[in-house]
Amino acid sequence: MANAARKAIFANMAILKIARMGHPVLAQAARPVADPTAPEIRHLVNDMVETMMDANGAGLAAPQVHVPLRLVIFQAPAERTDLSQQEGGMGETEKFDHTAPLTCLINPEILVLDAGIEGGWEGCLSVPGLRGFVERPAHIRYRGFGLDGKLIERSASGFHARVVQHEVDHLDGRLYPSRMRDISKLIFESEARHFATASDG
Ligand code: NI
Repeated sequence: MANAARKAIFANMAILKIARMGHPVLAQAARPVADPTAPEIRHLVNDMVETMMDANGAGLAAPQVHVPLRLVIFQAPAERTDLSQQEGGMGETEKFDHTAPLTCLINPEILVLDAGIEGGWEGCLSVPGLRGFVERPAHIRYRGFGLDGKLIERSASGFHARVVQHEVDHLDGRLYPSRMRDISKLIFESEARHFATASDG
């Protein structure tokens, strides 16, 4: 491979540093993306995908890599067990399925479809090592723009709805612990096995 071509490929890959709870970038409202099709946005998304894969996460919001823009990426498999509903690392016995469809959503908006609420365990790459039980609207419709500038509009439930709400919360400066009603259900992921039977079924 020619040096220039090699350089071009590697110049497009970078694992970014993830901001952790307490960093101000995670507590502020992010700005809208002016042009979803801009090359620098594509570059940012490529780096975010690399970063998410490396950290074994299911979703990542731009503020988590210190970029205060309204942009999220996530992978939403059709079905997952309750304790695996986490953005962050997996337990020892479970690996996240990175073959699930990957979505990049720019300037996202969420519409809650009904009063249904569902509880599930969440993790966050910005809150490493912890899991929390969070109740959220179970059925949503969301929309936003893709990297091609085209409108993406979908209905979602289950893990899909949870991960989108979790990621969009990041754009409004919210981390999942602030969504928890019962803080006693904030636990270390190494202890999550004690809750597995309680949340099964
Ligand atoms: Ni998160």
